[in-house]
Amino acid sequence: MPQTTRVILGAFALSMAGFAAQAGDIEAGAAAFASQCQNCHNVTDSDGEVLAGRPNVRTGPNLYGVFGRQAGTYDGFRYGASLVEAGEAGLEWTPDNMTPYLLDPVSFLRETLDNNRARSQMSFRVRDEGTAADIIAFLTQFSDVAEDEDAEAAAEG
Ligand code: HEC
Repeated sequence: MPQTTRVILGAFALSMAGFAAQAGDIEAGAAAFASQCQNCHNVTDSDGEVLAGRPNVRTGPNLYGVFGRQAGTYDGFRYGASLVEAGEAGLEWTPDNMTPYLLDPVSFLRETLDNNRARSQMSFRVRDEGTAADIIAFLTQFSDVAEDEDAEAAAEG
């Protein structure tokens, strides 16, 4: 493995550890979602109600229920091959693994698939972990697992 890759992996490990300790701020996350994500994504429930973002935005997949969902499987969305492959290999979104994805989707997919040619169709990157944590806290409201994870966190103390 090239040295640079190792350095990046180390940074991922650190950022994931940092994230686990960090609780995001839902209100800041709502604002960050509006400025950084909603050009491409919205959150639409199974009744077709738009809970975040704007209607008819389909550049990126619907993020309703994204936590616990296998990556690359929102019905009807045309994903890139690498994200689909990662999902087939077992990638399911959690708050922890979404952090490095948001910070650098290409590196995340290359690392996950152990393939330096993996590509992402999401070209956007969130600049810092704190913002990623806020957006993730905001998004967990629209997934069932959010409550389970909160319960787990509470149980762990
Ligand atoms: C410029 C458009 C664009 C922006 C801005 C954008 N995304 Fe994406 N996003 C995409 C596309 C396109 C994909 C599909 C990626 C692929 O197929 O490789 C995607 C995929 C995703 C996925 C994987 C979903 C799944 O079903 O597997 C998540 C999670 C995600 N984006 C979250 C976000 C968040 C959170 C933000 C804001 C910080 C954001 N995205 C900003 C276009 C965008």
